Amino acid sequence: MSGHGSGKVILLGEHAVVHGVPAIAAGLEAGAVARVVDGEAELRIAPWGVLVRAGDASPLGAAFAALLEARRRDAIDGVRANEHALEAHVTLPGSAGLGSSAALGVAVLRALDEIDGISRDFDRSQAIALAWERVFHGNPSGIDTALALSGGLARYLRNPPPGEPALRPITGARTLSLVVAHSGAPGSTKETVAGVALRKTADPQAFERTLAAFREVVAMGEAALARGDLGALGACFDRCQSLLAGWGVSTPTLDAMCACAKEAGALGAKLTGGGGGGCMIALAEASDRARVREALASRGHEAFETTIGPARPENTERA
Ligand code: PMV
Repeated sequence: MSGHGSGKVILLGEHAVVHGVPAIAAGLEAGAVARVVDGEAELRIAPWGVLVRAGDASPLGAAFAALLEARRRDAIDGVRANEHALEAHVTLPGSAGLGSSAALGVAVLRALDEIDGISRDFDRSQAIALAWERVFHGNPSGIDTALALSGGLARYLRNPPPGEPALRPITGARTLSLVVAHSGAPGSTKETVAGVALRKTADPQAFERTLAAFREVVAMGEAALARGDLGALGACFDRCQSLLAGWGVSTPTLDAMCACAKEAGALGAKLTGGGGGGCMIALAEASDRARVREALASRGHEAFETTIGPARPENTERA
């Protein structure tokens, strides 16, 4: 009995999404897999050599306890949500802006639900996965857990108006060729999100202006995706990167990596996720992608190529 959660890259709108601006993100094939094994409520994460018990002093133990508690509360038609031992494999680096914690939480939730014979719709799964994610990120927008559940390419809006879904699959878009590269430094999303919140307090009007600029660039990116205009989408990546840098969540290394990717032929480049370290992404024509990856790798950055396909709407259905 196993469950899977996808990692993700945010194409446009990270950080602004915390403050109610839509963002566009895509699931990665890499993520996390968890399976139920014999034993009591404990979670072993094989590649990290970590074993946690629900409620122990570690953040993972607290997250595991929060997820189990949220499952208990979300009783479904008298079906009992049991506690089990799990073994998990995470195939993404942590603190890299690729949503590893959300992927792990979703994998754990799905493995538990599968063995208990529980089928949950997107909104209910999202609420439970968020209980886990809050332990790590303080004030998560929910985009990581939403994409961990859905995979595919989608637009996400925190607290949508009544009747509108938070996650809207983007179907029919052109396949996107990306390079994902690690700056070599970990990034703390909790810290960068808190840093952006301080800017809001310090100068609310300037903050609102930047949010409006993010809103515009996300809308332009969505339109570019619909037209299949990769050049325009790349320009949106660049614009998003300068807005994020203006909020202080980029680093000199991430800036240099974006410049390097552009010199090697990328159509656009930006940090992805929380920043302050972690990863950047570059959009390229399929024929240029290997060159962009090699340029980043030659500077000592771990880099991989990935292809973003259309959304898988069956995974984002609401009840
Ligand atoms: O660093 P990650 O992969 O957790 O991505 C965080 C994305 C933010 O927009 C910065 C925060 C959020 O909760 O949306």
